[in-house]
Amino acid sequence: MTQDELKALVGRAALDYVPSGSIVGVGTGSTVDKFIDALGEALKADPKRVAGAVSSSVRSTERLQGLGITVLPAESVTELGVYIDGADEIDHAGHMIKGGGAALTREKIVADLAQQFVCIADESKLVEALGKFPLPVEVIPMAAAQVIRAFAKLGGSGKVREGVTTDNGNLIVDVTGLRILAPAQFESDVNQIPGVVTVGVFARNKASVCLLGTSAGVKTLSF
Ligand code: A5P
Repeated sequence: MTQDELKALVGRAALDYVPSGSIVGVGTGSTVDKFIDALGEALKADPKRVAGAVSSSVRSTERLQGLGITVLPAESVTELGVYIDGADEIDHAGHMIKGGGAALTREKIVADLAQQFVCIADESKLVEALGKFPLPVEVIPMAAAQVIRAFAKLGGSGKVREGVTTDNGNLIVDVTGLRILAPAQFESDVNQIPGVVTVGVFARNKASVCLLGTSAGVKTLSF
């Protein structure tokens, strides 16, 4: 199976985690696009399959609205049953690196509303330790150079992502050279660097379940 087919497989499988008639939290990325496609198909058979969605990006909002799904502002919701999103890396404990699509801040906010975080990913995303994928960090523009210097002290090499402004008007610094062995502690430490809005390590609120697309089918990892 191609990577695209694996993404479609887990996108469809994620539907099983969405209670009928509920409001679903929706992440961002090419794997989530497959989930949104599957949701669109399900809605054709059952127009009440979901009551609405809370979205983590302009990109996903547009796709959801294109299917006629009501997108609610996060601030109008106090709790979601489930949040479906992809990952750039996920380890065997459910810690993730996210933000390859620059939507990490809104993803962390919407994920925090949900009781359950269902990560959908093809098998290339499963790693022993986080850090090979360049770590995205959303930063206030005036702090970018300062944040890069702070990462240098942690052994990382940071670079501002060219041509990218986040949905929140900030910059993304991508950091290479890290091997993140204690993700929750690392997430807390980076949150202390002035000017950091969000670090792309999702460890304090990690995945509850990962639906991993493999050539043998969907493998379900529970954490
Ligand atoms: C978006 O900012 C990211 O967190 C995505 O969830 C992550 O990059 C996975 O994207 P793909 O599904 O496109 O690999």
